[in-house]
Amino acid sequence: MAQAKSSAKSAAKAAQSETAKDQTYDVAVIGSGPGGYVCAIRASQLGLRVALIEAAPSLGGTCLNVGCIPSKALLHASAVYAQQSHWKSMGLEAAAPRINLKAMHAYKRSNVETNTKGVEFLMRKHKIDVHAGWGRIAAPGELMVEAKKGGRGQKLRARNIVIATGSRNRALPGIKVDEKRILSSTGALALPQVPKHLLVIGAGIIGLELGSVWARLGAKVSVVEMEPRIAPGTDFALARALHKSLVRQGLAFHLKHRLAALKPTGQGLRADLVAADAPPDAKPDAKPSERLSVSHALVAVGREPLTDGLGLQELGVAQDDGGRVVIDEGFATNVAGVYAIGDAVAGPMLAHKASEEGSALAERLAGQNSAVNYRAIPNVIYTEPELAWVGQTEEELKAAGRAYRVGSFPLSANSRARLLGASDGLVKLLSDAQSDELLGAHILAPQAGDMIGAMVLGMEFGMSAEDIARSCQAHPTVSEAVKEAALAVDGRALHI
Ligand code: NAI
Repeated sequence: MAQAKSSAKSAAKAAQSETAKDQTYDVAVIGSGPGGYVCAIRASQLGLRVALIEAAPSLGGTCLNVGCIPSKALLHASAVYAQQSHWKSMGLEAAAPRINLKAMHAYKRSNVETNTKGVEFLMRKHKIDVHAGWGRIAAPGELMVEAKKGGRGQKLRARNIVIATGSRNRALPGIKVDEKRILSSTGALALPQVPKHLLVIGAGIIGLELGSVWARLGAKVSVVEMEPRIAPGTDFALARALHKSLVRQGLAFHLKHRLAALKPTGQGLRADLVAADAPPDAKPDAKPSERLSVSHALVAVGREPLTDGLGLQELGVAQDDGGRVVIDEGFATNVAGVYAIGDAVAGPMLAHKASEEGSALAERLAGQNSAVNYRAIPNVIYTEPELAWVGQTEEELKAAGRAYRVGSFPLSANSRARLLGASDGLVKLLSDAQSDELLGAHILAPQAGDMIGAMVLGMEFGMSAEDIARSCQAHPTVSEAVKEAALAVDGRALHI
């Protein structure tokens, strides 16, 4: 990481000396995450002069440094480790593998560095000036890059300024994250030892992914969730199946509960849980619904936009109640020349959504009329099995009063999934009752995150369930279950 820091700085230095003569840009992007750096590349490809401002020591934002990439490294390593439970049934015998967590973290770090250095390379390749420091909009068309927040800075001019500052973990009132025992996702990705008993607060995407990592590596994992179900926002049938699978993998769930108090004890932490609907001033010490002794706790109750300290209030940039920057369909704020994308604006907080917005915005700034198709943005929870979906859930269609047809197919009836030891999953497709247009595709399967790509393409082209049902899928593959679910929409699945 030290190397990454110094090379990020030297890239920034070289860029600064080159631009010392003329600091006026067509586009200045604040934030180098998947939204910001993609916006910068696309703008440069289209002939615009671009500056990228980043306060962190390495490029790539949360996703590359402390989010998607390091979590997937640990998810992959821990999944391979957990596969040993299937060895015997497949005729494999070996001494039980041992965990070398230090080496696992090194594997994670080397993947992070390859990616962040890759972004540095891309910035050089596309002649994008990287400015290291905190970006603050001083006036329309004028930015300060401060060595530290609120410090002295260097002035830049840009006709267009893009806020791509991302998000941060949401805090839980009264709970102080110390990254030693009480963790955010950042601390939970860097634990030096497998925790004895990890309490995960929030059964959302981060909670389920990081809970899975540590459970696979041997921790006892308890998850407390306010809602009556895990993974709120996903199709309930698949969430229920994933819940069952995770319980089989050793995770314990306390649904319809919330954390009321978390107190240090000699060895660890005492967690008091109360019913989710208990009044806020209920005294947990007097009567907690449940009391757990845990070694560590992970706060994973959502993320919030990172929009303070950017000069937005001073400039009058409109923000909603959640602090998100308000934009129009062209990503423009109410202040001329100021735009925003990614986690800093409304919509799912996903790296690929931010990248699409960054790309479309760059094209608009170059005079094109690009847009993002928000109806076809995939989501993936990288648990085992993975839960991937695009489009609407059955619950959303019901709430919208839309007439739909549904087809499901269990992976227990798919030959490939069975031999992979992954018959927990299912595929569920939802199509319009009249036109049969695909409205939602939901896949709980190994590598569902890769399988959903075909459904995304299909939705882009207005595919119907019948189109999928008439496609020829290779045998034996898990994708056959998608075809079977499409056949089931019309009541004619073949293998069930
Ligand atoms: P989330 O919004 O997915 O889940 C938070 C969960 O915490 C919800 O289920 C909520 O009901 C629960 N909760 C809130 N307050 C609680 C309380 N006091 N007690 C118990 N439960 C409580 O947020 P998460 O998992 O923190 O992820 C943040 C963002 O990061 C998400 O928007 C997600 O899209 C993104 N992300 C995406 C990933 C991916 O695409 N694979 C991976 C990790 C994060």
